[in-house]
Amino acid sequence: MSQLEIVGLKCSYGEHRVLDGINLTVNPGEIVSLIGGSGSGKSTLLRVIMGLTKPEGGAVRVKNDEVDYDSAQSVREIREKVAIVFQQYNLFQNMSVLQNVMVTPVKVQKRDPSSVREEALALLEKVGMRHKSEAFPANLSGGQQQRVAISRALALKPQILLLDEVTSALDPELVGEVLNTVRQLSREGMTMILVSHEMNFVREVSHKVAMMDQGKIIEFGTPDQIFGAPQQKRTLDFMKKIAWH
Ligand SMILES: Nc1ncnc2c1ncn2[C@@H]1O[C@H](COP(=O)(O)OP(=O)(O)OP(=O)(O)O)[C@@H](O)[C@H]1O
Ligand SMILES: [Mg+2]
Repeated sequence: MSQLEIVGLKCSYGEHRVLDGINLTVNPGEIVSLIGGSGSGKSTLLRVIMGLTKPEGGAVRVKNDEVDYDSAQSVREIREKVAIVFQQYNLFQNMSVLQNVMVTPVKVQKRDPSSVREEALALLEKVGMRHKSEAFPANLSGGQQQRVAISRALALKPQILLLDEVTSALDPELVGEVLNTVRQLSREGMTMILVSHEMNFVREVSHKVAMMDQGKIIEFGTPDQIFGAPQQKRTLDFMKKIAWH
């Protein structure tokens, strides 16, 4: 059974069709990366999955359970199953690192604080941030904050993790530590959808790559297929442009 299935998903902002019939299947433990030019709809696709932007049509299913984006209950359920980390990590500035990771499991999921605390510390350990548990976000580097943001998402025990350009706001020397965290999650079998402009990284970690253009997936395949032998001119042009930078 697929972990996530998207069928004919459509979304518009006013007259502007931003997602134009997206079909995408993500299997358990897979990393599927979305690549494509600015404005092609990558972030919108992730936002629609999370129920942050309403689709106009089509279906999203997690393990065969279809999400009803008109139902608050159904949207709550998808947010239990799927977590998202944005480019801007949006940590709560007035809370310590540990409080940031614990707050949603305790306050929203109503889980037992002492076991959440143990789990949160273990997650922070995993991303190399346990020693900063009592620090506040303002006193951390961007890479450190981003790793805390990933721990915070994992504390929700999601079945699927969506990562939207989690390294693009970082100084180059901090990118590596966040990518290492993603590599480790991949080894542990986390199912992920990754939006990234780090093409070498996308090629290395992805099981599948989807090339988006004007709200459509115009090409889908293994990293070797997409990067090594792209079939669409638009994909080739995109690769060339990336290679020049
Ligand atoms: N809140 C909004 N209101 C109106 N239009 C929007 C809104 N958010 C995005 N758009 C438009 O939707 C299109 C897709 O945007 P989206 O953010 O999904 O692109 P993207 O592929 O993530 O681009 P980037 O690589 O620059 O992040 C763009 O044309 C954008 O201008
Ligand atoms: Mg985007």
